[in-house]
Amino acid sequence: MKFADDFVFGTATASYQVEGAHDEGGRTPSIWDTQCRTPGKIKNGDTGDVACDQYHRWPEDLEIIKGLGLGAYRFSISWSRVLPQGLGEPNPEGIAYYRELCRSLKQAGISPVVTLYHWDLPQVLEDRGGWTVRETAYAFADYARLMARELGDLVDVWSTLNEPWCSSYLGYASGVHAPGRTEPLAALQAVHHLNLAHGLAARALREELGDEVPVCLTLNLHVTHPLTDSAEDIAAARKIDVVGNEAFLMPVMEGVLSPELVEITREVTDWGFVQEGDLELCHQVPDILGVNYYSTSTVKARQEGEASTSGGHGETGVSPWVACDDVVFLPPEGPLTAMGWNQEPDALRRLLVQVSRRYPGQELMVTENGAAFSDEVSSDGQVHDPDRVAYLRQHLTAVAQAVEEGAQVTGYFLWSLLDNFEWSWGYQKRFGMVRVDYETLERTPKDSAKWYADLARSRDLDTVGEDWVAGA
Ligand code: FCB
Repeated sequence: MKFADDFVFGTATASYQVEGAHDEGGRTPSIWDTQCRTPGKIKNGDTGDVACDQYHRWPEDLEIIKGLGLGAYRFSISWSRVLPQGLGEPNPEGIAYYRELCRSLKQAGISPVVTLYHWDLPQVLEDRGGWTVRETAYAFADYARLMARELGDLVDVWSTLNEPWCSSYLGYASGVHAPGRTEPLAALQAVHHLNLAHGLAARALREELGDEVPVCLTLNLHVTHPLTDSAEDIAAARKIDVVGNEAFLMPVMEGVLSPELVEITREVTDWGFVQEGDLELCHQVPDILGVNYYSTSTVKARQEGEASTSGGHGETGVSPWVACDDVVFLPPEGPLTAMGWNQEPDALRRLLVQVSRRYPGQELMVTENGAAFSDEVSSDGQVHDPDRVAYLRQHLTAVAQAVEEGAQVTGYFLWSLLDNFEWSWGYQKRFGMVRVDYETLERTPKDSAKWYADLARSRDLDTVGEDWVAGA
């Protein structure tokens, strides 16, 4: 099975997870800096203060990407680095940093794929209500416009938001992510204001850059199986589909607030914060719909007296699934990754095919896929990560199959280039195809990096890695 010559093989990171330099170059704190300073929120008390120090070491990382022969690097901009007050006066030093990064990537033949928001809201904006208020959506659009003006000549794909599901439900309902709030109403307000932010920003980008430059929105679409084919279990799975997926897909792709969502959440809100004309503003179909995919869930309807569950995302004990107390998440079945997530590559194929049938002609990219495993450095100084190689092989096969079935998938971004700060898990979970030694910040490409480079070169899943995986 071969990938087309123009299929993009890339890799991804996010500012707070890799940059470090938290108080350098005029950057102000984001909600993640605050979250990391709140006792008990992050495993081991880890912070992104230094992270992978990409802010200083990006030339080395660029060389690694280039050496692997990858065509694109998806990274995110730290909003508070370029706009320390969230809005208003830009910070030239912050802008210069990203200009230099983009310019050097382009020179090396690597496409910059820029995410404007990968969860690190400037703390000053959270202090004014964060995503629960509509002003934040307008501030985001201004920030997007500024970036389009400053970097428009260098960026190949503009992504507005990364996984607004996490920003809203994990940030404001379960509190496992920043800003760590546990208010169901706030989470639904955040859902709407994030959709609005996407719409306003996409419009600003298109006004500034014209229609030639693709705008992307990245969603973590949830694949949820009902445990049985009973009507109750099917309804439970549909509920998760509505709260997890339709909440974002319908406003952005169709300009509609899901009536099922309104019905499910009616005890929390009447959605009165959705103002007239808002859905039209949200309705900015992205040129590329980014799909982040890692695993699936199985659910059933909760029986009388049975405890409700959080769906694997609620370390705080509060579920992110607003208004879904009657849904029970089953423990995932092995083999699991180090995150405790199941592996179901074929669900990625089905998801991509399903989305393209629903939105015919829609270009898709897998903007994140990958796995954490507890890999170690071997006595030969190398990192042999056969589990990750197998995971990648299976999921890339699923992508190739989806393409064969007609899905217009044009790229795949491996999460992640580097081991990095994995949010509430701190540095414990290693997703990188390149190992980072957090004492020395030394980078060591793992076997999976070599495998992926081999695939990017040959584009052929049938022959990739044969030379060395067997003998490794
Ligand atoms: C996704 C995030 C990314 C990373 C992976 C493992 O939800 O977008 O930053 O943490 O999960």
